[in-house]
Amino acid sequence: MATNKIGSSENKKFFLTTPIYYVNDIPHLGHAYTTIMADVIKRYKTMRGYDVFFLTGTDEHGQKIEKNASIKGITPKELADSVVIRFRELWDRLNVDYDKFIRTTDDYHVEGVKKIFKKVQEKGDIYPGDYKGHYCVSDESFVSDMAEDSSAGNKICPDCGRETEKVVEKCYFFKLSAYQEKLLKFYDDNPDFIQPASRMNEVKSFVKMGLRDLSITRSTVSWGIPVPEDEDQTIYVWFDALTNYITGINYLEEDDTFKDMWPADLHIMAKDILKFHAVYWPAFLMSAGLPLPKKELIHGWWLKDEKKMSKSIGNVLDPNVLFEHFNSDAIRYFLMREAPIGADGNFSHQGFITRVNTDLSNDWGNLISRTGGMIEKYLKNNFSGSSTTGEREIEVMEKYSEMEESVINFFDEYKFNRGIEKIFEYIGYLNRYIVETQPWNLAKDDSRKEELEGVLITLVKAILSINYLLSPIIPETSAIVSDIFNNDSSGFGWKDTGDSFSIRKVEQLFPRVDLKDFLKSEENKKKEATKTGTPEKKEKDEMEDGLISFDDFMKVEMVIALVNNAEKIENADKLLKLEVNTGSEDRTLVAGIALHYSPEDLIGRKIIIVKNLKPVKLRGVLSQGMILAASDKDGRPYIPEIPSETPVGAVLK
Ligand code: MSP
Repeated sequence: MATNKIGSSENKKFFLTTPIYYVNDIPHLGHAYTTIMADVIKRYKTMRGYDVFFLTGTDEHGQKIEKNASIKGITPKELADSVVIRFRELWDRLNVDYDKFIRTTDDYHVEGVKKIFKKVQEKGDIYPGDYKGHYCVSDESFVSDMAEDSSAGNKICPDCGRETEKVVEKCYFFKLSAYQEKLLKFYDDNPDFIQPASRMNEVKSFVKMGLRDLSITRSTVSWGIPVPEDEDQTIYVWFDALTNYITGINYLEEDDTFKDMWPADLHIMAKDILKFHAVYWPAFLMSAGLPLPKKELIHGWWLKDEKKMSKSIGNVLDPNVLFEHFNSDAIRYFLMREAPIGADGNFSHQGFITRVNTDLSNDWGNLISRTGGMIEKYLKNNFSGSSTTGEREIEVMEKYSEMEESVINFFDEYKFNRGIEKIFEYIGYLNRYIVETQPWNLAKDDSRKEELEGVLITLVKAILSINYLLSPIIPETSAIVSDIFNNDSSGFGWKDTGDSFSIRKVEQLFPRVDLKDFLKSEENKKKEATKTGTPEKKEKDEMEDGLISFDDFMKVEMVIALVNNAEKIENADKLLKLEVNTGSEDRTLVAGIALHYSPEDLIGRKIIIVKNLKPVKLRGVLSQGMILAASDKDGRPYIPEIPSETPVGAVLK
């Protein structure tokens, strides 16, 4: 499905992006919304004659991923590899036809980020300093001193409401303050840069309040791209992530592809990351001497039970759950129909099922099956070529043209919900047309056969014309409908079938799903999950916030042990063999600390050990537990000091 097509043609190019998603979280309906919207825009723009390139991917560096991976006991790259598969699978399932999937751990991206960093450095916009402030790990964002305090004395992140961490570290700053006036001028010169306009006003007020220089490196985060010529620092994850929009189209080589594609025509995202895209990103690009993106489309949030769907609230909806009852088109349709682009949308199972049943099963599905059924029954699936076109039929055509024009206007402005609304008004009109012309009565009278064919052929042409308009939203169904009516002609306007043609048997396009069945299976699943905690749910929970339950913590048995003997293990520079007493028994441990501790440092010392770890054999010695030590980013161990009066065998909890 995903092709790696980069290139120019005679068509106008259109370069389109989604945010790249964090890999600490499995994909949910909120991510699906943005990505489906991008796919709909790709398909629609292609219909409008553009040569579209659609870039999506994953954001894999930074403190949040580092932390989550360490909690799970795997490397950040291992964590990323497992989650990336989930994103790609979901996009395939939802028929998302992206052209390139970028991962920020890809080499060409890493090198591209270093390249733009150096450009900004050469411009004189980067200087070393000390950062002392607050950091929101969840948003990967520096929080101002003006933010509210929590009861624990930490600042609260104004964007997500979580408690921040205090940070004191050496770093490099980006001279964001130098771009305040340039940004304001850019917004004034390009009033359509941000859509909807209300979001542009937010951005302007934010910038007018004053911009402070931005720390763009971290010295306490090792999971990131090293700063060129200062490997103690890694590049701030947002500087890294935003750069994907250019590295994904060959910024490293700055070849013809890059020159053809950049600047982007459209960045799509939700309002949570507006500041990064509308303030920081343009400033970085100005500094690097690159043109700015043409437009940013900012949509609202999907809420569930009136709250933002998000991993920390725990109200995320995995679209895979919907696949048990619905196909991908039902999900795509609901998301595009239900939420106006700028506003928030509330997801409820009831709202979902009602929308899908009413519009897709009743209105669209029924129009097709009724029309197909009549063609089968009265014409044996064949149009003979002799039909009459009355005034009524001309009105059907004219109404189509009016409707299509307004749909194109709405779709051009990315107001998909409004466009779809117009299409369905027209579908309702066609269903009434059937009732009014009563083909079943025309069929009773042989002398009215031409009139009957006239009504049915008008319906087929209308269906095919609508089908093209709906194709970016529900591509799978659209292909089936073209197949049923043996007509896959593309292009806007009233479709021509020719006079004599035959159709295939109509299948049911959107079987109605009963709300009770839907809710029942959901309810059962929830009950099951709370009873047993399904592996999927547990995995999801852990993935979502990096937290483990108290019960999980209590599974680890840690005690104070006394080191009775210690010696080096032959031919293993890093390993020491320790004989310890745990209060109830003697045990042997193998510890990878020999580069930093000698046997004499440890004999007679109290240490903390994990007692219930599965024994493993290391260099022929059976290790029956693990010593606890802190580790810095180079892996140097630090064994904690235990107060001398602590009894051997005392339990840590
Ligand atoms: N990694 C950054 C983006 C870097 S882009 C250079 C990030 N990732 S994220 O995984 O948190 O994704 C945020 C984006 O996912 C939102 O801007 C939006 O596009 C989408 N959504 C996530 N939750 C959503 C909702 N509940 N509702 C609508 N969109 C949602 O931020």
